[in-house]
Amino acid sequence: TPRMRKVKRVVYGAALLGATYTGWLMYRNRNPAEQQAFDPSKKTLVLLGTGWGSTTVLKNLDTEHFNVVVVSPRNYFLFTPLLPSCTVGTIENRSIMEPVRLLMRHKSREVKFYEAECTDIDADRKELTLVRRTSTEDAAKGSDGPVKISYDYLVVGVGGTVNTFGTPGVEEHACFLKEIGDARKIRRQLMDSIESAAFDNISDAERERLLHMVVVGGGPTGIEYAGELHDFLQDDLSQWYPELAKKIRITLVEALPNVLPAFDKKLIDYTQSTFDENRITILTRTMVKEVKEKSFIVQNPDGSRSDIPYGLLVWATGIKAQPVVNRIRAQFGEVQTNGRGLLVDEYLRVKGARDIWALGDCALSGYAPLAQVASQQGKWLARRLNSVAAQAARENKNDADMFALIEEKSRPFKYSSQGSLAYIGSEKAIADLPFFNRNITAGGVATFWFWKSAYLNELFSLRNSTLVVSDWVKRFFFGRDISRE
Ligand code: FAD
Ligand code: NAI
Repeated sequence: TPRMRKVKRVVYGAALLGATYTGWLMYRNRNPAEQQAFDPSKKTLVLLGTGWGSTTVLKNLDTEHFNVVVVSPRNYFLFTPLLPSCTVGTIENRSIMEPVRLLMRHKSREVKFYEAECTDIDADRKELTLVRRTSTEDAAKGSDGPVKISYDYLVVGVGGTVNTFGTPGVEEHACFLKEIGDARKIRRQLMDSIESAAFDNISDAERERLLHMVVVGGGPTGIEYAGELHDFLQDDLSQWYPELAKKIRITLVEALPNVLPAFDKKLIDYTQSTFDENRITILTRTMVKEVKEKSFIVQNPDGSRSDIPYGLLVWATGIKAQPVVNRIRAQFGEVQTNGRGLLVDEYLRVKGARDIWALGDCALSGYAPLAQVASQQGKWLARRLNSVAAQAARENKNDADMFALIEEKSRPFKYSSQGSLAYIGSEKAIADLPFFNRNITAGGVATFWFWKSAYLNELFSLRNSTLVVSDWVKRFFFGRDISRE
């Protein structure tokens, strides 16, 4: 019918337009325009970190107004929400890494990048000390530096570091789940334990130990990792190691009375019942006191202690302040009294400091340590810096007081929660979403598809989204790769 023909024409037209736009985006990504050089008359803005906070500042910052320098020990942005998927090969590591130089090359003015760690600051001289580790895997292999660089404005977005609460043996024997190297290590050790358990000449007790996979911490990191591990066991290991797979046990240990304390009660119950169905044991009110090479000690709910053998132990008990944050705090000792991070005001200004802002997990801004918070703060700060710098340039005020101007010209930062999502295994996810001043909670397979599309939408670039989708398709057809690298 003519109507159908019309609809067809519209659909074909839209598809052609979409394909042309995608092609243009891809061409532009590969062929960035020429950049302006550093301008000695502009102020230098140094961004510490290439995580959610600092990378969002970089993405939104107008380099017309500043000479921008980025300092970070890793030369890429990491999309942490999909990191648990990398531990078992649902997604390959590089699919969630975005080289920061791709982003820098698309700014109008050149951006300088130092792959180094900032180890100290002299706030009076506005100077930073940088050290470059020659091996990111092995700190003992030494370092280059130190070198000193100057800043006019500083944005601190160094995130947090894993918190072991000083528990003996954790640093030596446990795996963490914070950086891409951690996911690589977990994947290798997991396959290592399984292949070792395949040897005939070991005792049953030793085999049982090797096949006991333990997760410490029932926050979202521990839960998502346990869910991914279960899927790997169910979908892949059961096919390729039929006898061993039956003997694999997953245990999650949580010190509090329940897992996921920040989620709604209904979702906690749903997660616990899904874990029961998936035969993941949850030990609540149980605190890990020590980790040894082959076993760990817990304090049980009744106060007694047990020594439990394990093959792989993943430690996911949250974060604490990075060492450089403590160095910065030391400069403003009388105001910076909280050891958990940098106290900031509602404009993200580091209390006691001048020309230093902090955002994300390293800033104590009253919000949870979340990617959403860090990226909203990054966007807010970049936009404020852009607008006050543009105004100062129009008025020829090279020495404008950005600290004061941002306060004068804008409203304080306010976080707008988009809700919480977490994957719990077996193609099920949970969601706690704000909706017109009410909270909507949902769990199940439909939520899993919502989780997938939400994360795909939030991935930093077209390149990353394409890689992640292709990993999902690859997994669907061929399963996860079980080779031990
Ligand atoms: P980060 O993203 O941690 O970045 C810090 C940056 O600083 C890094 O580039 C680091 O290399 C660099 N750095 C460190 N030390 C120095 C130094 N001395 N000098 C210079 N640079 C330095 N949040 C959510 O909202 N939703 C989720 O689904 C979610 N999932 C997560 C899953 C996992 C497995 C993990 C670990 C976290 C997850 N989070 C999630 C939390 C989220 O990742 C953090 O809140 C977020 O990364 C904080 O952003 P940030 O910029 O403050 O720090
Ligand atoms: P967390 O701080 O949320 O949870 C850690 C858990 O470990 C706590 O429940 C704590 O009681 C427990 N614990 C601490 N010491 C213990 C011990 N010795 N023995 C047993 N249990 C112990 O940490 P997590 O999960 O690493 O998350 C860090 C941040 O990242 C949080 O803000 C979280 O919301 C965010 N995140 C969000 C995700 C999402 O929204 N999907 C996914 C992953 C992280």
